[in-house]
Amino acid sequence: MKRVIFAGLAALTLVGAAQAQPYPSRPITIVVPFSAGGPTDAIARAISERMRVSLGQSVIIENVTGAGGSIGVGRAVRAAPDGYTLSLGHTGTHVVNGAIYPLQYDLLNDFEPVALIASNPMMVVTKNAIPAKNLRELIDWLKANSDKIATGTAGVGSASHFSGVYFQNLIKVPLNFVPYRGTGPALQDLVAGQIDMIVDQASNALTQVQAGKIRAYAITDAKRLAVAPDIPTADEAGLPGFHISLWSALWVPKGTPKDIIAKLNAAVVDALADPAVRQRLADVGLEIPPREQQTPQALGAYQKAEIEKWWPIIKAANIKPE
Ligand code: MLT
Repeated sequence: MKRVIFAGLAALTLVGAAQAQPYPSRPITIVVPFSAGGPTDAIARAISERMRVSLGQSVIIENVTGAGGSIGVGRAVRAAPDGYTLSLGHTGTHVVNGAIYPLQYDLLNDFEPVALIASNPMMVVTKNAIPAKNLRELIDWLKANSDKIATGTAGVGSASHFSGVYFQNLIKVPLNFVPYRGTGPALQDLVAGQIDMIVDQASNALTQVQAGKIRAYAITDAKRLAVAPDIPTADEAGLPGFHISLWSALWVPKGTPKDIIAKLNAAVVDALADPAVRQRLADVGLEIPPREQQTPQALGAYQKAEIEKWWPIIKAANIKPE
């Protein structure tokens, strides 16, 4: 009998010790729901290096891809709510996917918001071989070649996909979407001329545009990018109202203790205040929200408002899951 009591006390002591250990006491994982080398992965790597300094533990990236990002988000939401598994996502994964997929999780009730990170417009880009010098000529070319267009996306429900559907519906030309596990590999194929175009996050396409490897026609914003003043807005290029602001943010599973969320939020805020991180994000056209919008409450309110805005539009478009 004594042995049973001793074993029970030892187990209680171990559990107590685990909970009593200060957070974080081991490495933290950020689940990125798209392949390495894409824009979501780039944001994770830009902030994780600085978060390690604030948290005193390494912050590692795990790329879990598929189904427009919903596989990776599902992996993160099922993790223990202990602050060691974080979900990085964006408008596509934490808003649009909910209007397309029969998700095994609730985007508002199964997550706790941590912080908004950055936003950027989408950019219409093509391989260099397309004989169009501006958006109007590109639309004419797409209309004349609609039977052989290949448009890269990161899967149904991804940012590049729903933005492509939006563009397709505006110009009334079927764009034949080709799904990849992220717009990192899609962009590689665009540079190689294997596909014709992508409506990609500006932060992903910009470097290749500036290197002359692909061609940009417009961005989905009312103002031009400070880092790319020669790329017109969709309004200027002849497609008024084609506006999309793609924002990325961080969440944890529901039930994560408030003090842990506060520590994670503080680490993101430190990263977004760090001059080197700010420069790295700004160089690719990413805009950091003002400090008052970096709170967990601000992300929760914004995500809810975005769901209310986009779900009726996405559902009306009758987009089917992959
Ligand atoms: C998207 O299209 O949803 C993202 O840009 C994909 C990615 O981050 O690779």
